[in-house]
Amino acid sequence: MPQNFSALDRVHLVYLVDRSLPSEDELHPGSDVIRGLSQAPKTLPPRYFYDDRGSQLFEQITELPEYYLTRTETEILKACAPEIVQITGACELIELGSGNSTKTRILLDAYRSADHPLVYCPIDISAGILESSAQSLLSDYPTLEVYGLVGTYEQALEKLPQTHLQSRMIGFIGSTLGNLNPQECDIFLDQIASALKPKEYFLLGIDLHKSTARLEAAYNDRQGVTAEFNLNMLRHLNQRFQGDFDLTQFQHVAIYNEAERQIEMHLRSLRSQTVRLNTLDLTVEFSAGETILSEISRKFDLDEMKQLLSAKKLDWVRVWTDSEQAFAVLLCQRILG
Ligand code: AVI
Repeated sequence: MPQNFSALDRVHLVYLVDRSLPSEDELHPGSDVIRGLSQAPKTLPPRYFYDDRGSQLFEQITELPEYYLTRTETEILKACAPEIVQITGACELIELGSGNSTKTRILLDAYRSADHPLVYCPIDISAGILESSAQSLLSDYPTLEVYGLVGTYEQALEKLPQTHLQSRMIGFIGSTLGNLNPQECDIFLDQIASALKPKEYFLLGIDLHKSTARLEAAYNDRQGVTAEFNLNMLRHLNQRFQGDFDLTQFQHVAIYNEAERQIEMHLRSLRSQTVRLNTLDLTVEFSAGETILSEISRKFDLDEMKQLLSAKKLDWVRVWTDSEQAFAVLLCQRILG
């Protein structure tokens, strides 16, 4: 019989970042903003979406009628979780990002129903986020052990700790792979493949290519939440770097680039203007109509993805989609070699 230890006994955090050393961000704050706004065309790193307000807005996006991604992936996971458990057997769940707990819970519930021990290893750069997401799970799963890794995905994938169960599965759900450009995606899949031992699993959620109308609707919702999410990045930069972006003088634009199969989110300057980010000592000139690319969200072809994964020694074991083939969840297994 498993014993029910207190929640505190069941959280183990490993710091992969040296907390005594300043991070790259602390050493050179905003260097990525300076780089992005100094190039043509201008870009901004998507990580600046996620201040507190941005994270709240993203949560709202996931519930919008037009934004089918989260809802569809959740439905697929609910339907396929028992089968995943049947295939993997007792398996430790490693999650990149400390996760949307709704989806993590679907998987934990399925392992619990099969009477498997529950081991969850979330990876996040923020120890605070790791701890708070672990706390809510620990109270609902009295036998769950959490081994959190505080660090970047890259650091964590290089140093995955000893397996606690007979197998493990790295989960990268939520279609976040789509926010990486092809080169980043390639590097990331190589890192996944090298982190796994032969026969270990990789669970991937991806959004699929579909009609431009449906895709553009998902990123131009009628309530304007995605527009606010995009513009909030400028508010965040103002607050973080003493900036003077005038949010009324920029407009959210999201278009589907069919050739590249990606949604491109931009912030378009409504007039010629000069913006100053004081703490970065940066002055940026915008012409009327000029855009900043703030995010790409790639939409995949299932067969091409299967081929790419196989080329990375990640053979797909099972693929589940919804009735409209809008979204896919792929279970892959690391092959020998
Ligand atoms: C986080 N990521 C998978 C979302 C997406 O759909 O690419 C981010 C997002 N941007 C606008 N809406 C949602």
